[in-house]
Amino acid sequence: ARPAALPRDLEGVRVVISAGGTREPLDPVRFLGNRSSGKQGYALARVAAQRGAEVTLVAAHTVALPDPAGATVVRVSTAEELRVAVEAEADDADVVVMAAAVADFRPAERAEHKIKKSDDTSVPTVELTRNPDVLAGLVRTRRPGQLLVGFAAETGDEHGGVLDHGRAKLKRKGVDLLVLNAVGEGRAFEVDDNTGWLLSSDGVERRIPLGAKSELAATVWDAVAELVRDTGA
Ligand code: CTP
Ligand code: CA
Repeated sequence: ARPAALPRDLEGVRVVISAGGTREPLDPVRFLGNRSSGKQGYALARVAAQRGAEVTLVAAHTVALPDPAGATVVRVSTAEELRVAVEAEADDADVVVMAAAVADFRPAERAEHKIKKSDDTSVPTVELTRNPDVLAGLVRTRRPGQLLVGFAAETGDEHGGVLDHGRAKLKRKGVDLLVLNAVGEGRAFEVDDNTGWLLSSDGVERRIPLGAKSELAATVWDAVAELVRDTGA
């Protein structure tokens, strides 16, 4: 789509978007990470800026991506750094979108020196500790009228299908909108296309057709623009 054809329906709306995957160091050369490419978060930032929003992108680790035109980019690495940056930026934001893949756990200890093999065949055990849930913190401290958008990548299992898990997570997380992606079998991660559902706390469920990540971004911003109009935020 040509930028000129996009609505300017986010004019004056302050949005913060997190993107990419966090890295949790084990020692000076190793980390626990994940497969997030950052493409979906960057697409959200680019489209929001094109539609007139004031955009801050908190970017963790991503594949090589150009900075979205018109967005302020803050770079972070660990979940804790991401939390500090997002919380600072969220203070006067109208909308926060947590598209980042934030590590749930980190190594309990970060070795000061590179971990070496010993002479025998023994292997080290990595003990993990919980990271803060950034989105849960935002939900606890949200201002009236502030909109919070979460992401969930789910697979079906013996407890239910992707949609069941998404609906449960929407309730548990207390967000206004949840972008639900079906993952596995080459879907969602590291690819340019994305599909899923956009679940709203008011019960509206939009099916997101398979398409470019910029199209998923447009669906999210359509829903946000509608909510901003309704609440007069
Ligand atoms: N999230 C976060 N901080 C974390 C973990 C997740 O802010 N430490 C955010 C993600 O950015 C996403 C949402 O929470 O927007 C849901 O993440 P997800 O991993 O699907 O949910 P979890 O509550 O961590 O549940 P699960 O056990 O399924 O991983
Ligand atoms: Ca998680």
